[in-house]
Amino acid sequence: MRALVTGGCGFIGSHVVRSLIASGWAVTNLDCLTYASNPGNLADVAGNPRYTFVHGDICDFDLARNLVDKADVVLNFAAETHVDRSLLDPLVFVRTDVEGVVSLLEAVRHAPQARLVHMSTDEVFGSLPLGIEAAEDAPFAPTSPYSASKAAAELQIRAYAATYGLPITVLRCSNVYGPGQHLEKFIPLFTTRALAGEELPLYGDGRQEREWLFVEDLLSAVGVVLADLPVAPGAHAVHIGSGERLPNIEVAGRICDLAGASRSLIRPVFDRPGHDRRYALDCANLRARGWAPRVPFDEGLSRTVRWYADQAATWSHSADNDFAAYLDRQYSARLSAVEEFGS
Ligand SMILES: NC(=O)c1ccc[n+]([C@@H]2O[C@H](COP(=O)([O-])OP(=O)(O)OC[C@H]3O[C@@H](n4cnc5c(N)ncnc54)[C@H](O)[C@@H]3O)[C@@H](O)[C@H]2O)c1
Repeated sequence: MRALVTGGCGFIGSHVVRSLIASGWAVTNLDCLTYASNPGNLADVAGNPRYTFVHGDICDFDLARNLVDKADVVLNFAAETHVDRSLLDPLVFVRTDVEGVVSLLEAVRHAPQARLVHMSTDEVFGSLPLGIEAAEDAPFAPTSPYSASKAAAELQIRAYAATYGLPITVLRCSNVYGPGQHLEKFIPLFTTRALAGEELPLYGDGRQEREWLFVEDLLSAVGVVLADLPVAPGAHAVHIGSGERLPNIEVAGRICDLAGASRSLIRPVFDRPGHDRRYALDCANLRARGWAPRVPFDEGLSRTVRWYADQAATWSHSADNDFAAYLDRQYSARLSAVEEFGS
């Protein structure tokens, strides 16, 4: 089988590429190598004869069509993904996360053999009250430019499925973590700062609740989905979550413990505007298909912290200018306002 994976040099995409290659697929990876990519994530498969890398943009329709024509399955992981950055620069999110998806939809529309599997997020539902889990047909209520772009892409997918009779799979995933994630994200940021003995800027009261899924459990879920892709026209949503929901302040504390750092490094800072309090997915349908997460959060977090500790030589010297400027813009004022905020 031939897969076109987009965004394969990012966190999730690189794990999916490696897993598909290991399962015997021929994989073409289309990635335009934004700041979030790390081609080094795929160093171990780069020389594999069943792996091809194409440096390009999913918004380039001619390129997308050419590659989709040669694929049996198209897995779209290419996206702008960092919520904080979507507040700083929303336009690029609309371009990649909405226009890019329409470009792939147009390509798939002209290639009847190719099935599209698109990665969305639990964030399309916005903040959920305690006790509520979002089922696949729950209404969208996005609150950030990122989640609004992901919801908009899903609406385009529904429109294409209905208009052109396409069978499209939409994966809606909770927070994924594990080795190889960009340092800007919550667990890598707090892990690397804790390992370096630096303050951990925790938004607001830290009681925001997230559902954490280890990346290996996402891979097994993708395997279950690929083994039985729908043939009926429609946008078929699949929820993938662990059920392990924890407040951010608890995750921060456990990271400190695993990194051998004091929990006193945790610094409450002014919250992000529109910060959702709680996400929760109802995953009964996927579980009924035989899938279950296998890596408990404590084990996955321990493996992840150990991975970043082992990679310290890489990340501690990779303070590229973009990331340093981003950290400064996002956190410096917040961290210097801590005294006032905390008093
Ligand atoms: N990481 C999570 O916790 C999580 C949770 C739910 C859903 N998702 C979704 O999963 C997908 C992958 O997330 P991730 O965390 O691996 O992302 P990431 O930021 O680590 O990687 C994104 C990749 O996409 C590439 N890319 C960006 N714009 C592109 C474009 N226009 N054309 C081609 N390539 C482009 C980047 O270069 C990068 O390699 C995204 O759709 C994201 O919304 C992620």
